Amino acid sequence: MRILAIETSCDETAVAIIENGNTVLSNIVSSQINIHKAFGGVIPEVASRIHVENISYVLEEALRKADLTIDAIDAFAITQGPGLIGSLHVGLIAAKTLAWYYQKPLIPIHHITGHIYANRFVETLQYPMLALVVSGGHTELVYLKEEFDFQVLGSTQDDAVGEAYDKVARVMGLPYPGGPEIDKLAKLGKAHYRLPKVKTSNPLDFSFSGLKSAVLQTIQRNKDDLNKADLAYAFQEAALNELIEKTRSALDTYVVKHFVLAGGVAANSRLRERVLELKKYYPELTITIPPMWCCTDNAAMIGAVAEVAYRHGIRGNLDISADPGLEYS
Ligand code: KG4
Ligand code: ZN
Repeated sequence: MRILAIETSCDETAVAIIENGNTVLSNIVSSQINIHKAFGGVIPEVASRIHVENISYVLEEALRKADLTIDAIDAFAITQGPGLIGSLHVGLIAAKTLAWYYQKPLIPIHHITGHIYANRFVETLQYPMLALVVSGGHTELVYLKEEFDFQVLGSTQDDAVGEAYDKVARVMGLPYPGGPEIDKLAKLGKAHYRLPKVKTSNPLDFSFSGLKSAVLQTIQRNKDDLNKADLAYAFQEAALNELIEKTRSALDTYVVKHFVLAGGVAANSRLRERVLELKKYYPELTITIPPMWCCTDNAAMIGAVAEVAYRHGIRGNLDISADPGLEYS
């Protein structure tokens, strides 16, 4: 089965063609990052306008790279939410038009399920599975007792971890997006600044806003002799301790065969190390981290989950709309 998947939930215009759920025939991502960089973050109105300009070209390029015509496509998958309403809308209209014109099924997808199923490109997923979702908009522990069955065990009470990386980078005067910048800078730092440990009432929830305030206070207190590398190191260690501790609590509480990492922050080099270290404590557990090309937003991951969604009977009518706050189905 060949699925053409479209992803426009934030600032990447992306189209991919995926065969049988895990073979990538093409995967085109047109990033707007250089435009948004000038503003220090994504400007939603600008993002949706650029999606309108780019979507047809990205679609043509995906077909050209796969050396296919649209008649060879069996279904169209689209990110329905969560994300920026204007951005989601552009992809949804494109997918609906294609599905209607070519009379093929439309498969609406929850963006985060795409991040989770990106791990299909590495190995066959086993259940029960636990996913640590770490992106710019989400930080969650998601339990899949069975295939395509999503239960949120814990989520962030305030900022998402990617958002915390980006905000901390901004107050440290680093360019947008801040995640990769802090990742690089932290490698040059050492344990020097102490940042507080976070407390949440649900042991599987996360919180990052206190950490962000503590970074700001450290900057203000050390105005003249701030060591940015040491601060990046302290922030990163504190943020990743929070992620790993909560993950371990979930692994100790639930029956889990397979653990996967998911979302843009999965590109973080230190987090990838820390996740692989879990093997020491859980030798029976299969641990998968997504390939670097599939961590930040792309449409291949949407195609990967869409094949599963299709088997589970998920179809979209032509009256579905973009949903910025979409829940797991
Ligand atoms: O999944 P994603 O592309 O977008 C959402 O679905 O939200 O994730 C983007 C986030 C940004 O906050 C970015 O700073 C973060 O992923 N990120 C990183 C790294 N690469 C991207 N954070 C930490 N370390 C990285 N190497
Ligand atoms: Zn994402």
